[in-house]
Amino acid sequence: MISGNIQLASYLFASILFILSLGGLSSQESAKRGVMYGIIGMIIAILSTVLGEGVEGHTWIIAAILIASIIGILVARKVEMTSMPQLVAILHSFVGLAAVLVGFGSYLDPHTQALTGVDHNIHLTEIFIGVFIGAITFTGSIIAWGKLDGKIRSKPLVYPGRHLVNILLVIGCIVLGVFFAKASGTGGMMYLYVMTAIACFIGVMLVMAIGGADMPVVVSMLNSYSGWAAAAAGFMLGNDLLIVTGALVGSSGAILSIIMCEAMNRSFISVIFGGFGAAPTGPAREVTGEVTSVNHEEVAGFLNDAKSVVIVPGYGMAVAKAQFPVHEMVEHLKKDGKKVEFGIHPVAGRLPGHMNVLLAEANVPYDIVMEMEEINEDLPETDIVLVIGANDIVNPGAEDDPNSAIYGMPVIQVWNAKKVIVMKRSMATGYAGVQNPLFFNDNTDMLYGDAKDSVSKINGFLKA
Ligand code: TAP
Repeated sequence: MISGNIQLASYLFASILFILSLGGLSSQESAKRGVMYGIIGMIIAILSTVLGEGVEGHTWIIAAILIASIIGILVARKVEMTSMPQLVAILHSFVGLAAVLVGFGSYLDPHTQALTGVDHNIHLTEIFIGVFIGAITFTGSIIAWGKLDGKIRSKPLVYPGRHLVNILLVIGCIVLGVFFAKASGTGGMMYLYVMTAIACFIGVMLVMAIGGADMPVVVSMLNSYSGWAAAAAGFMLGNDLLIVTGALVGSSGAILSIIMCEAMNRSFISVIFGGFGAAPTGPAREVTGEVTSVNHEEVAGFLNDAKSVVIVPGYGMAVAKAQFPVHEMVEHLKKDGKKVEFGIHPVAGRLPGHMNVLLAEANVPYDIVMEMEEINEDLPETDIVLVIGANDIVNPGAEDDPNSAIYGMPVIQVWNAKKVIVMKRSMATGYAGVQNPLFFNDNTDMLYGDAKDSVSKINGFLKA
């Protein structure tokens, strides 16, 4: 057992570690250190809570931690990098569910019932808001998981008047909240259950209304909600560390969502409420022109002749795990005296920083990894661009077709380079499900096949 003061000091120390952890995660160089700070902070947080005064049932708690840790380790080892967003989404749903259960438990707790006056009202408000946010996070995250995993179609489910329906449902929850606060004893439980059911429905409808291309923002927004749900649980339990941690997750998730909205040129409000912005007024422009394809030997020849090469990776590079042969290719080209750079789109792949993580895994030096704005400036002077498993992020329709589902999203303007090679397996569309006019351009050639296989074969020709 540890005293209240030691627990408070441990909480403060853990909070500082969590802040350092978030700071560390802001760049590739310090990310590992950031993760370490987070792990140490979490161990301190769990130990100082479990060993705190008044905590009973240690055997149960240790058994739960052991079982959950084994499940966590197994899932984390098994999950593919490309399935990470789904995992994150489903983990958010657990946080939401935990906040709901903590709210129910807290309401039925005799300590709550013993509170009077303002204290009682404040506590009931904490419970009601915590359960409301938790329930939305719970079902919203399950729908996000389903959409990301392809179990639910990614097309937005919209119907006329749905914003009004959502507003009425929220008003209904507020009315229930008034009855809940006025009920005596545990008589408000029924109102809490009904509000939970309505909030679960709102969570489903909010995320169902959001289209595939906006899902990255939704995942980060649900991350933020799960933080606020945890902070609300912290208020209910009177746990300062949970309040601080929840607020950190809540605010960093909200900031990330805004940054991503800016990167995709989307209005934050329209993404969160799904389709508040201007919808396309007609079908996307028909793509005309001829698609030309080349073979691996020809691509190796183009690379040999080029002085500057830009590589734009996307989701397909992650699927194929092509980052290792790509690094080999880069080393070879650099040794030959060519200027080689990577152009990274902020939402390339399926999670923020996806490409950066893959390139770091393959030991690609950070100084040749450029952000979208930087690389767009260099592209007109670039001899050849290799688009490896990317599609939506290099779609010119995002700039010039107002009816495209991704119109307005900034893209990497690879078409400005002298030559573009697109490596993918077929003419299939990307995540947003829109055709890409880039493939039909005169200066674009397709190299069909699995990205890892293609890059390895090109490496073979380069060496020969
Ligand atoms: P996408 O537009 O999804 O295109 C990826 C392309 O990779 C596909 O067209 C596919 O074509 C190809 N591919 C798949 N497996 C391959 C393999 N083994 N070898 C070679 N190619 C392969 O990806 P992107 O350009 O990276 O754009 C990301 C999209 O995902 C955006 O729409 C973004 O909004 C969305 N999104 C992003 C995130 C975050 S946070 N990054 C999260 C969720 C959604 P083939 O089938 O013809 O091979």
